[in-house]
Formats: sequence, structure tokens, C-alpha cells
Amino acid sequence: MTTYPKTAALMQRGTDFLGCDSAILCGAMSWVSERNLVAAMSNAGGFGVIACGAMSPELLDAEIAATRALTERPFGVNLITMHPQLFDLIAVARKHGVSHVVLAGGIPPKGSIEAIKADASGIKVICFAPTLALAKKLLRSGADALVIEGMEAGGHIGPVSTSVLAQEILPELGADHLVFVAGGIGRGEAIASYLEMGAAGVQLGTRFACAAESIAHPAFKQAFFRASARDAVASVQVDPRLPVIPVRALRNKGTEAFTAKQREIAARLDAGEIDMASAQLEVEHFWAGALRRAVIEGDVEYGSVMAGQSVGMVTREEPVAEIIAALMAQCEAALAK
Ligand SMILES: Cc1cc2nc3c(=O)[nH]c(=O)nc-3n(C[C@H](O)[C@H](O)[C@H](O)COP(=O)(O)O)c2cc1C
Repeated sequence: MTTYPKTAALMQRGTDFLGCDSAILCGAMSWVSERNLVAAMSNAGGFGVIACGAMSPELLDAEIAATRALTERPFGVNLITMHPQLFDLIAVARKHGVSHVVLAGGIPPKGSIEAIKADASGIKVICFAPTLALAKKLLRSGADALVIEGMEAGGHIGPVSTSVLAQEILPELGADHLVFVAGGIGRGEAIASYLEMGAAGVQLGTRFACAAESIAHPAFKQAFFRASARDAVASVQVDPRLPVIPVRALRNKGTEAFTAKQREIAARLDAGEIDMASAQLEVEHFWAGALRRAVIEGDVEYGSVMAGQSVGMVTREEPVAEIIAALMAQCEAALAK
């Protein structure tokens, strides 16, 4: 087996915490991160995370059981904090004795971290930290590790780049706490630089979305292989009255239609044909079901082809194990220089 001694030494805290060989998480991707990709990731020595997304507790129950059937290694479960049944989902994760729960999509609601850890469950909690102040608060609230994710990432994004977040947070917290860096990582050299800055490991999504084991539709994968960094754009808000939560996805007819739709809704609002709440709801609902349409049905024209700026480095379908090996070798070579 190939070893990567310098990388392994810098990743040691991360691998001890995750219980895997390489401190590389495959970030949860709704519809993509299901049993096959998650098990492949953990079996290859990385760390897979099930994307619960909008799943019901029953579906999550089945997905965890199915993933367990495919791997004996640890994997995580990613829960979205605004899911209306968050506490039922936590109960499902606890029932299965899942080792790690990732809380995503906002600050964890009161009692959620406590619920995961109740009765000395031993479950580790990983939270997303958008700023240094919130990072400290999350650690005080019981988070065992943090992910800092920059706006280069695919999916829902914050306003700050990975490089700036890393500079603000790693020197302050990296030595004493477990911080994983995400967003825009496509090669091992970048992993080396974040490890040297104090990260315990990294999280990638875009680079793994089109792995051979990913169930994403062939048309979704082709769209990734064709795209370059500049095609992965953040959704645009047209009117200050109609908030848009930014999502990074490949530019397509759907993104154009979204801009046109916002203009149309704003015009109806001006004309008094619609009230503010309904207008905002119409904007919010525009993309409902759109990620599934792209990932599962292969509608890459009107669906939401969520992808990060590292998409230009995804050029072909490769098994997860090969992607991890390439990243580790590049990281090791960079550290050896
Ligand atoms: C198609 C897609 C779907 C995603 N869905 C989720 C999700 O459901 N929950 C979540 O926490 N992050 C989600 N993400 C973010 C990833 O977990 C990961 O943090 C991100 O992709 C890392 O940045 P990168 O894309 O630059 O590698 C998604 C990303 C992509 C590309």
C-alpha cells in the first residue's frame, strides 16, 4: 500500500477524529451522497457523509441501514438544521449509532447538539462555521469539529472565499481545535497548504460528485466534464425586496429563467397584483425539486446543476479510490518540496 508519511502526520488529528485513513471528507450532496457514494468513500479510506436533505425520518432510517450494509467503516450523516423534523432525524441517527452527525444549513437550533450527545451517546458533532466569532460560539456549544466553507464551493454558499476564511480562522483555532476546510479544493497541493496552516483535514464535494460510484445521471456528469470554473456561478438576486439565498451551480437555461422570473415577480409587486409574502415565497419556490431534476433525471438545462468552481478540474469519471490516491499523492509531493 502506498503511504504518504508527511500528509498522514499532518492529517493525524483529523483521521483519529473521523476514524479513517485520509482526512478527506466527501461533503454531503443532496441526491448524490447516498449509500453508494458514501460507502465507496469510506471503503476507500476517506470519510463519506449521507446527505439527508429533505428526507423523512423513515427514508433516512433506510438509507443509513443500506449504507451500513455496504461498509463497515465509519461514515457521517448530514442534517439540515431547518428540517421541520430535525429532532426525529437525530433520533434515527442515534438509533443506528452513527459515529458523526454534521449539522448544516445554519446555526444549530437550541437543544440540537445536546440531543445528539444525550446519554453520553459518544456521537461527534461537526458544524459549519461562517465566521470566527460563530466558530468560537459553536465550539462553546459543544461542536467537536468545524467545517469552514468558502464561496467557491458548490451548493448553498456564504459570501467569503475559502482563502480568507482559512486565514481568519486557522491561525486562531487550528492548533487547539479540529477545523476542516472546504470550498474550491480540486488538487492535493491546496490540501497541503491548508494542512500547513493548521487544518485537520479537508472537505470536497464537486471533485467527488461525478465519481464512478456516484449515481448522478450521465447527463449531469457530462455537464461537469464540459464545464470550466467560470461556468459555476452564484445565483443572482435581482430585487432588494426579494431575497435569494445564493447557490453556486452551472449556468444554464434555468438560471436565466430564474432572473426573468424575479423581474416578473418584482413587476407584479410594483403593480400591486401580489403581496410581499407571496412574492418572496414564489422566488423561494422557484428551485424546488430542481437539484433532483438535474442529478436524478438528467435535466441539465432547467435543473439545478450545483457545482463549485473546482468543476474545471473534474474531467472524467474516476473511482473514488483513484481520486483520493491522486489527491494524497499531490499533497505529499507538495509537502516534500
Ligand atoms: C451537488 C451538490 C449538492 C450539495 N448539497 C449539500 C447538502 O445537501 N448539504 C450540505 O451541507 N452541503 C451540500 N453541498 C456542499 C458540499 O457538501 C461541500 O461542502 C462542497 O461541495 C465543498 O466545496 P467544493 O464543491 O468546492 O468541493 C453540496 C454541493 C454540491 C456540489
